Amino acid sequence: MDRILIRGGNRLSGKIPVSGAKNAALTLMPCALLTDEPLTLRNLPRLADVDSFGHLLNELGASTAIEGTRPTDFGRVMTVRAGKLTSTVAPYDIVRKMRASILVLGPLLGRAGEATVSLPGGCAIGNRPIDLHLKALEAMGAEIEIAAGYVKASAPGGRLKGGRFSFPVVSVGATENALMAAVTCKGTTVLDNAAREPEIVDLCNLLVAMGAQISGIGTERLEIEGVDRLHGATYAVMPDRIEAGSYACAAAITGGDVELVGAEANDMRATLDALVQAGVTVEETKGGIRVAANGPLKPLTLSTAPFPGFATDMQAQFMAMQLVAEGASVFTETIFENRYMHVPELARMGAHIDVRGRTAVVHGPTRLVGAQVMATDLRASMSLILAGLAAEGETQVNRVYHLDRGYERLEEKLQAVGADIERVGDG
Ligand code: EPZ
Repeated sequence: MDRILIRGGNRLSGKIPVSGAKNAALTLMPCALLTDEPLTLRNLPRLADVDSFGHLLNELGASTAIEGTRPTDFGRVMTVRAGKLTSTVAPYDIVRKMRASILVLGPLLGRAGEATVSLPGGCAIGNRPIDLHLKALEAMGAEIEIAAGYVKASAPGGRLKGGRFSFPVVSVGATENALMAAVTCKGTTVLDNAAREPEIVDLCNLLVAMGAQISGIGTERLEIEGVDRLHGATYAVMPDRIEAGSYACAAAITGGDVELVGAEANDMRATLDALVQAGVTVEETKGGIRVAANGPLKPLTLSTAPFPGFATDMQAQFMAMQLVAEGASVFTETIFENRYMHVPELARMGAHIDVRGRTAVVHGPTRLVGAQVMATDLRASMSLILAGLAAEGETQVNRVYHLDRGYERLEEKLQAVGADIERVGDG
């Protein structure tokens, strides 16, 4: 398994290109199942999860062609052709490796009137139930049975009908599945307390480009007028707000000055506001966002929340950044029940963090010392990289396959702005 070695202490300076958003790509790709015409996605990030989703689409009978990009290009062009589905089953061995596979449930129901998808199971950050996905689909008439670890769903008469559903808890994935099922329902669907993340807006914009009729885009109330069929489209994936936020933390923790090229400030206001509160200079530029340290970091009190609140996917990275802040920072993780897996690993580098239930208190400033640490989940892995960039001596991050799921060519992007970082294989 690959490892990443970092010799800390370098100030980062220069430009980092922001890739297409992983969490948008993983909900845009299954939209191809909703039409027999080609769907071309541009600015797709080169990530393990994107490749896994491509394999899942192939399993269902869709072709996925990566078009003319040089290896040096960031962002790929992929055309998915699902003219004829040969299967409506998403098997366990694919779903267990990538939970986002559950996002074929809605589109398969919408296209083929049936779907059999392995239950995704939990992961490091929580048990990740899918009850809201299923309830939302049942509100559109889906008949759902769970047997032998699989969800078997079908649309009576082959087509779902419009319904109403109010989400008791904001759920990104459940909103996405519901949207992809609703667009070809017979009749109108109303979703209340829907997720408002920018990735949901990206999904709605693609579906509209394919001929769907959706109103309330960007709000917590979505109204979808079902249409008989959708057509193909060409669409560019939005920039990754979490990748951009992660590299902003890298600039801050190293006392650096970095421009995040292609970042969209409106997708990440809560992140930018938190950086400013920590004393970091944030400036929107023509090409993106400039983030520059401006003296010692100030302590923060942050609580994660659904968009437009402070993103749970930014919690681990801000926790690493605040290790060097002058004072105690308080984090409250309200979305997932076990998203502090990075704490014991950061402690091995000298961090002093007290965790009590959903709250973690980070006592800064910390003299960080490089160590061998282990990645446990995607964003926790990034927090270890960030701490390594600021630590004295060498940090070795193991199990970097977690990072490869969500950060395109991470070490290249950091090397380009002065980090002393390299990937070593076990050979
Ligand atoms: C998406 O996961 C993202 N993944 C996650 O990013 C992100 O952390 C999360 O949204 C929250 O923003 C992708 O988009 C592929 P949820 P998702 O449904 O959809 C509970 C990363 O690091 N819930 O919004 O699975 C759930 O347990 C990943 O890029 C139910 O109770 O998240 C959680 O407490 C990690 N029942 C809360 O809702 C359900 O049916 C929010 O989960 C579904 C969710």
